[in-house]
This record gives sequence, structure tokens and C-alpha cells, in this order.
Amino acid sequence: MNSNIDSVQLRELHFELLYPAARIQARVEAIGQALSQSHAGKNPIFLSILSGAFVFASDLIRCYQGDCEVSFVKLSSYSGTASSGAVQTVFGLGQNLSERHVVVVEDIVDTGRTLHYFRGLLEEQQPASITVVTLLRKPDALEFPVPLDHIGFDISNLFVVGYGLDYDGLGRNLPGIYQLKEQL
Ligand code: XMP
Ligand code: MG
Repeated sequence: MNSNIDSVQLRELHFELLYPAARIQARVEAIGQALSQSHAGKNPIFLSILSGAFVFASDLIRCYQGDCEVSFVKLSSYSGTASSGAVQTVFGLGQNLSERHVVVVEDIVDTGRTLHYFRGLLEEQQPASITVVTLLRKPDALEFPVPLDHIGFDISNLFVVGYGLDYDGLGRNLPGIYQLKEQL
């Protein structure tokens, strides 16, 4: 697949390039450097929310300098291009996080429902600290205020795909981020 292509079709929907891969990588590196400083010597555990955040998490941990661990949790609130309104834990935290420095890695904060729910689960385990990183945020969609420590990009309230994010399972392998073309 060509990373410079500026539009892509997934099933019946058309998307146009929003952020090319190089632009994303620059932000990921900056966030990785900031975390390397703030978490130096703390052996943080990066907790990636599947499925969408797996690409971001894999790049981010390689920009982290120092000891760290990685784990995954699978949550789901979306079906197609709209939030279903309910968060489900498809598989959960298999690890004791008490006294650990946790870095939550999310792909996108839309209504905030997913992170609001997940933060509640995490706090029950009494970690030493919780740092939340999201690649994307849609400020206009926010319904549940959630504290965010690092945000890659603020975007408009349009559905996006690529760099791990999918439409109906497709588009995760696109190196850039693409947004839905508004219907004329
Ligand atoms: P909430 O509303 O809980 O949504 O903040 C966060 C989760 O919903 C998914 N999501 C998207 N997935 N393109 C996607 O591929 C989008 O534009 C989008 N908006 C939200 C995502 O899984 C995220 O974890
Ligand atoms: Mg999704």
C-alpha cells in the first residue's frame, strides 16, 4: 500500500488523508521522549487498549528509553462508525497493577466513555500512578471528562481510520490517518 495516497475507499466509504505517517511519527517520538523523562527509573507498564491502539503502542514503546513492560486490554464500544453507548471488556487485566506506574495507551478519545470506564477499573487496583496517552482526541464529541496527559492530535468530529483504527475491520494497516469525506 502506498503511504502517500491521499484518498482510500473502505467498503462503501471514502476517506481522505489527514496525517501522513511522517507527521504521526514525529508526534509519537515527542511523546515517547516526554515519557522517557517523566517515567525514568519507574519501570512503567504500558497498557494498550486493543484493538485500535496496537499500532500506536508498538511505535510509542520503541520511542521510550529505559525499562518498561507492555500489556493489553481489550475494550469495545464501537460498531461501524458510531459509538454503541456501552463499553464491554472483551478481555481484561491479567496482571496485578498495584504500586505500578501505568501508562494507558489509547488510539482515540471520542465521547470519553471508554477511558472513563477503564480508569475506574484501573483505580480499583491502586496503581502508583496513571498516565493517559491518546493519539487522537475529538474535543467536540466529549461527553465524559477524562484526564489526558499526552494528546497526539485534536481532530474534528469525523470518523477516522488508519494507523490501527478501522472501519468495520478494514484500514488498520494504513500508515497514515484518514478521515471520512463529508457527503455532499
Ligand atoms: P469513546 O466514545 O468511548 O470512544 O471515547 C473511544 C473508542 O471508540 C473507537 N472510536 C473510533 N474508532 N475511528 C475508529 O476507528 C473513529 O473515528 C473512532 N472514534 C472512536 C475507538 O476504538 C476508541 O477506543
Ligand atoms: Mg474500532
